[in-house]
Amino acid sequence: MTTQPTRYAPVLVGLHWLLAALLMLAMTMGTFVLKEMPNTSPDKVGSLRGHMIVGMVIAALMLVRLVTRLRTRRPPHAATGSTLLDQLGRAAHAGLYLLVFAMAASGLATAVQAGLPEIVFGGGAGSLPRDFSAYTPRLVHGWIAKALMALVGLHVAGVLFHQFRLKDRLLSRMWFGKR
Ligand code: HEM
Repeated sequence: MTTQPTRYAPVLVGLHWLLAALLMLAMTMGTFVLKEMPNTSPDKVGSLRGHMIVGMVIAALMLVRLVTRLRTRRPPHAATGSTLLDQLGRAAHAGLYLLVFAMAASGLATAVQAGLPEIVFGGGAGSLPRDFSAYTPRLVHGWIAKALMALVGLHVAGVLFHQFRLKDRLLSRMWFGKR
């Protein structure tokens, strides 16, 4: 009989914290820099380039993490004592994958519709549209951003509930050490 590990595999732990940092960066950059900067600004193309690269890296790493998660042994889903809360936890994890992929897909769709790959990576070919508000995927990107921020908030609240209320040392499962 194989026993279940007490921690996630090191590659899953490393990717978790790297992705958390990259997602914070993409969301903060998107909300406070890109969204606020007019497309006429000389800095806009460079900022879009950075954001698009980070966004694509996030999608690729998220895929690597999902595949690795399915192929490695991991600790059982954390229990709270309430079936409803346990189901909410599972749904939140699935939702995080779904929303991050939807975020990348809607960002990519906006970029393709607006011809950004050529403008941003094509060495100055073409010019940016006046703004992106006419593109439906751009609107979807904004809505999903709000939903993702809310879900990340719920995820963090869940972790804090386990760590400090239930005192089950949940955080140690997502850190390096003997499994
Ligand atoms: C998957 C991770 C990503 C996250 C977390 C993210 C986050 C954001 C956020 C928060 C905004 C501002 C939305 C708003 O408040 O209305 C934004 C805007 C934008 N993002 Fe992303 N994004 C991601 C991926 C991508 C990708 C892969 C691309 C393109 C290849 C992209 C292209 C854009 C564009 C073109 C804008 C609009 C900028 C503007 O309105 O001037 N994003 N992003």
